[in-house]
Amino acid sequence: MRRAIFPGSFDPITNGHLDIIARGSKLFDEIVIAVLNNPEKNPMFTVEERIDMLNKVLPAIETGNCVLTVEDFQGLLVEYAIKREIYAILRGIRAVSDYEYELQMALMNRRLEPRVETVFLMSGEAFSYISSRLVKQVFGLGGTIDGFVPSLVEAKMREKLGHTERMKYG
Ligand code: PNS
Repeated sequence: MRRAIFPGSFDPITNGHLDIIARGSKLFDEIVIAVLNNPEKNPMFTVEERIDMLNKVLPAIETGNCVLTVEDFQGLLVEYAIKREIYAILRGIRAVSDYEYELQMALMNRRLEPRVETVFLMSGEAFSYISSRLVKQVFGLGGTIDGFVPSLVEAKMREKLGHTERMKYG
């Protein structure tokens, strides 16, 4: 069984994340989507809400025989990986600007736990500028996020913020 963890904040899940999961599903038999449980980050959605959205949108993507599982985790990612006996971390790279941050995390994780490798996949061009942070900012300021997140996620964001309320989330 080839298994990978796809970790992230997923606050909220974007079409860019779904693109990486779909690409990863061609390489792995199981992908555990691991939602960081870190309330200090002042998330827009609780971990439970993020997991619920993931479980609702994941069935729409084509993953062949790859099994998708959604869990939350706290603390060190590599400790969680070892506990789950999964030795690959899957991450997406959108643009050169992601590289430095991702390299730093991958090397730190490797130093902490050499048994775990990080596997990078390149996002589709159409998703190269989408991030949860920008989606929240644009939405909060009244801009359209059509095509950036699944429609269910957009509806949940609308519920959270209301139609006209303008707020910024970190
Ligand atoms: O979607 P994000 O916010 O870019 O994901 C970042 C994430 C969750 C992968 C990263 O913050 C993480 O692994 N956090 C857990 C804490 C940890 O293990 N830190 C050391 C790794 S550098």
